[in-house]
Amino acid sequence: MERLVSGIKPTGGLTLGSYIGAIKQFVELHKSYESYIFVADMHAITTPQEKKELRNNIRDMVAIYLACGLEPDNATIYIQSENPYHAQLSWILECNTYLGELNRMTQFKDKNRKEGSKNLSCGLYTYPVLMASDIILYDADVVPVGEDQKQHVELTRNIVERFNNKYGSTFKMPRPIIPEAGARIKDLQNPKMKMSKSDSDSRGCILLLDEENVIRKKIMSAVTDSDNKIIFDEENKPGISNLMMIYASLKDIKLDEVERKFVNSNYGEFKKAVADAVINTLKPIQEKYKEIINSSLIDEILNKGIEKVIPLAKDKCLEVQEKIGLGR
Ligand code: TYM
Repeated sequence: MERLVSGIKPTGGLTLGSYIGAIKQFVELHKSYESYIFVADMHAITTPQEKKELRNNIRDMVAIYLACGLEPDNATIYIQSENPYHAQLSWILECNTYLGELNRMTQFKDKNRKEGSKNLSCGLYTYPVLMASDIILYDADVVPVGEDQKQHVELTRNIVERFNNKYGSTFKMPRPIIPEAGARIKDLQNPKMKMSKSDSDSRGCILLLDEENVIRKKIMSAVTDSDNKIIFDEENKPGISNLMMIYASLKDIKLDEVERKFVNSNYGEFKKAVADAVINTLKPIQEKYKEIINSSLIDEILNKGIEKVIPLAKDKCLEVQEKIGLGR
């Protein structure tokens, strides 16, 4: 069975974008692979985090994985920082990655442009290498991610190729899996920009735990155009195209089917249908989340998960250290 590895940063308030771009794929794929899904808490601290909030967000993330439908019998779920080999391998990989490669990472370049280098941590700059480590530590075959992480998986592939050429076959070559619809869900108020909790204004961003009336309001006031035709055209109709992506993804249909279904509808009617689709998807997730957030199930699953991954990661790390000549 091939291996699947992926994770999400627990920075609080998971968005509909992360659900559609990542979690929905995890749920669909996790039974067909040997799956390792983790909480990327070491990635979260690349930007300042409040201690108590971070702890809560980590636990929330696990509850959300479970509430969305990940089954712990089919996926190993764990917290990244509880396995020290992620950081261990990451350092070795950093020493085999070029500055030029990290300078090309668009996510960092965008942040640097917006915030200026004075406010950014070195961790934010090198985190694509930690991500490579997360992936190849477990010999992943596939990595389901949204479009914005594709470049980081490509960097991972370059690192694998270089390392294997230099030290002999050591790591598997991973491949990204990017969803057909919903790889890049946009901000509802600024549909040229990615929907993201840190960058979006709150009206532009739907959170998985938003209440029904809040979701409805955000979708009904999403920015569109004056054309009143439900046609997919990201260039000229980014707002409507984004809503079509959301609808297509949640209903598991193609974009041309969305066009056909709403050929006689106006924007108000279409937005209502999108809001219904989002609410119908999120309501059962929210109910399940409330059931499990305070249960001991979460710790049981995390204990089992970390027990399973540490020996795997340790073996890999020792193999790498031996190939390089570290230690005795
Ligand atoms: P993060 O936590 O920013 O995002 C988690 C996942 O959600 C996807 N995503 C989106 N997809 C579509 N539209 C959006 N608006 C949207 N916003 C977020 C992201 O593409 C991602 O798949 N570095 C990663 C976490 C990570 C990881 C890994 C992923 C750490 N190690 C190893 C895979 C494998 C990150 O910051 O994602």
